[in-house]
Amino acid sequence: MITVSPSILSSDFSNLEAEIRSLDSAGADWIHIDVMDGVFVPNITLGFPVIRAIRPHTARRFDVHLMIDRPERYAAQFVEAGADLVTFHIESTAQVKKTASLIRQAGAAVGLSVRPGTPAQDVFPYLEELDLVLVMSVEPGFGGQSFLPGSVEKIRVIRREAMRRNPELIVQVDGGVNEKTIVDCAAAGADSFAVGSTVFKSADRAAAIRSLRERAEAVYLRDL
Ligand code: DX5
Ligand code: ZN
Repeated sequence: MITVSPSILSSDFSNLEAEIRSLDSAGADWIHIDVMDGVFVPNITLGFPVIRAIRPHTARRFDVHLMIDRPERYAAQFVEAGADLVTFHIESTAQVKKTASLIRQAGAAVGLSVRPGTPAQDVFPYLEELDLVLVMSVEPGFGGQSFLPGSVEKIRVIRREAMRRNPELIVQVDGGVNEKTIVDCAAAGADSFAVGSTVFKSADRAAAIRSLRERAEAVYLRDL
């Protein structure tokens, strides 16, 4: 199943309740929530109180993308705050297995993310234990950047390996996803898309989400 997960990093933070409701009624599959700590990435966004505050306003899955140093310290608290899926960076911790099991024990699905410079093969040892691998197609830290084309091959390499080791694995891509770049990503095997500016810049969010999903569905796995 193809999922579109609009990133609230691009939303109007002075009116988050309305933004969440708008994404829900526009048909967002999940809500992508970017958590940055100013250490792992050069930006600071939001944390537990904000996630808790927006949780009552939608039943959509909260897809929480942690860009924080040593996420094992806080992983379970993100689940308590309302995350349904917690994705952390392989570069942010020496304790990948421990972090994954803390998230799972707390009751959420587990994602592992790679920065653009990190080889795809680095996630292979963990594939059986993950629900999702997130391929960053920009350097994490900011919305509105341009898609790095090398990400497409990385998606393909991970999807191929997942077909052997974990056929249920979701491969998500995040950064610079638009109506053009989504096609190559889905064709290479990505089935989940975190999308910031493309959805938020659109005058019709429902149409933007629908169009992205349809484009991905039309080509999924075509170029594998
Ligand atoms: C960047 C974040 C992304 C970002 C995507 O570090 O992880 O989720 O919000 O924004 P766009 O789609 O504008 O690149
Ligand atoms: Zn993100």
